[in-house]
Amino acid sequence: MFKGVLFDLDGVITDTAEYHFLAWKKLADDLGISIDRAFNEKLKGVSREDSLTLILEHGNKAGEISSEKFAELAKVKNDNYVEMIQAISPKDIYPGILELLEELKAADIKIALASASKNGPLLLDKMEISHFFDAIVDPGSVAAGKPAPDIFVAAAEAVNVSIKEAVGIEDSQAGITAIKASGSLPVGVGSPKDLGDDIAIVPDTSKLSLAYLETVWNSK
Ligand code: G6P
Ligand code: MG
Repeated sequence: MFKGVLFDLDGVITDTAEYHFLAWKKLADDLGISIDRAFNEKLKGVSREDSLTLILEHGNKAGEISSEKFAELAKVKNDNYVEMIQAISPKDIYPGILELLEELKAADIKIALASASKNGPLLLDKMEISHFFDAIVDPGSVAAGKPAPDIFVAAAEAVNVSIKEAVGIEDSQAGITAIKASGSLPVGVGSPKDLGDDIAIVPDTSKLSLAYLETVWNSK
């Protein structure tokens, strides 16, 4: 049986993937770059800086932005995003997540956060679920962001679980690629159209439970 669960945050624990999209969309609009939800699938799970690079490349503006301007744009997006998440509270935890965290704790299964977001600890505090997490990986501490496996490898290490004995839960293409590359077992939240038809996927988090994860684990 698996010994650890490595959680993504945005779009898995709560609806902040939507706030990231809205904040990027506003920044892109202000720059005269049009981004839609299909393009946003490529941004999910991707670090702030890598997301901004993808948006600028999409708008053919990567060459005309100085490093000072780049840093300023990243800050504008984050300031806007941080404002949006101020009101997040325990009632914003996605359905089934609290119950899953409680079940994992009771079963003595380690819980780690493998989110690319530097706002992860703040969000866990706002939702009052920080105490469930045995480790929170600082995304700034890993060499390469998702789709590289580093953050999942670091998360498993942080809770002393072999990566091969861990399950990773993700809503993003970059994150699923990272989990697969890490050697842990991917579980997707979303649709096979976005995440692929070769992994276990739930349409929403209410379908996640310890029993569900055990079924996926036992049929791998
Ligand atoms: C997560 C989100 C991305 C976001 C990244 C960095 O991976 O899915 O949309 O860009 O975190 O978040 P941050 O809060 O540090 O800008
Ligand atoms: Mg996510």
